[in-house]
Amino acid sequence: MTIQKAVIPAAGLGTRFLPATKATPKEMLPIVDKPAIQYVVEEAVRAGLDDVLLITGRSKRSLADHFDAAPELEQALEAKGDTERLAKVRASSELGHVHFVRQGQPKGLGHAVLQAKHHVGHEPFAVLLGDDLIDERDELLSTMLTLQERTGGSVIALLEVPPSQISLYGCAAVEPLAGQGSGGDADQVRVTALVEKPDADEAPSNLAIIGRYVLNAAVFDVLERTEPGRGGEIQLTDALATLADLPTEQGGGVYGVVFRGRRYDTGDRLDYLKAVVQIASDRPDLGPDFRSWLTEYATTLD
Ligand code: UTP
Repeated sequence: MTIQKAVIPAAGLGTRFLPATKATPKEMLPIVDKPAIQYVVEEAVRAGLDDVLLITGRSKRSLADHFDAAPELEQALEAKGDTERLAKVRASSELGHVHFVRQGQPKGLGHAVLQAKHHVGHEPFAVLLGDDLIDERDELLSTMLTLQERTGGSVIALLEVPPSQISLYGCAAVEPLAGQGSGGDADQVRVTALVEKPDADEAPSNLAIIGRYVLNAAVFDVLERTEPGRGGEIQLTDALATLADLPTEQGGGVYGVVFRGRRYDTGDRLDYLKAVVQIASDRPDLGPDFRSWLTEYATTLD
């Protein structure tokens, strides 16, 4: 059976983006004219995951409203004959089957994923962080889905970062994937250990965990037994470290896909700005005007 369910945690406090995120989830911040979370839901649907569960918390309404129909707005646009904007408004409510569950308290990413247990059941599923954007021209999720189907374990996405930045991420120790001969893919690895936000001198590698996972459902039992870790939060990385040590027949084994494309952490202000500039520059409608302004503006910078 192929994987159909995607879980998108969007219940964090978003403290790095205050005060914008005081009453609005950071996943609703616009990247040009679409909220970040819509890009993430679209990515899931493109990979064939049309059952999407959003884990929400405070300010749930704007997230739920965004993926719902908006009859009054649609009527007003229809009356004006604005078919282009009407299509944009409708598109967000016609993306797969979007469900919601609340996290109650933001006790960490692992705790957020645990809220999906009932909805997901026993099949493997994907997790996409709602503030983490992967450029749609750069392939990642379907490679991860294929690797999960091949190994039966769990798969994480890894990004090479400068050693000075590794303490901002979960970090993976890896080895070549058994059975990958000379024709194998060097970017697919077996994960031997995981550590959340290590100090630079204690990090086992410069491979950072980024916001895409394809998980064996055994992760739920492990999360239920996972004690709060770094920052007093229930960490998904800690549960994955346990899964890496479990035998295959118990749903264990963790694998990694090293991603070499464009990725933006829109919960971080600098990365958010880079995402807006890059995505706007590449847009056929806005790009030409924006690029010529940007080029001129850049000449005024020191
Ligand atoms: P982050 O650590 O980036 O989110 O979590 P945060 O805690 O909201 O951000 P800052 O550091 O305070 O600015 C990664 C993802 O996991 C979700 C977040 O919404 C984000 O999409 N998350 C995190 C939850 O859903 N619940 C949590 O308890 C924590």
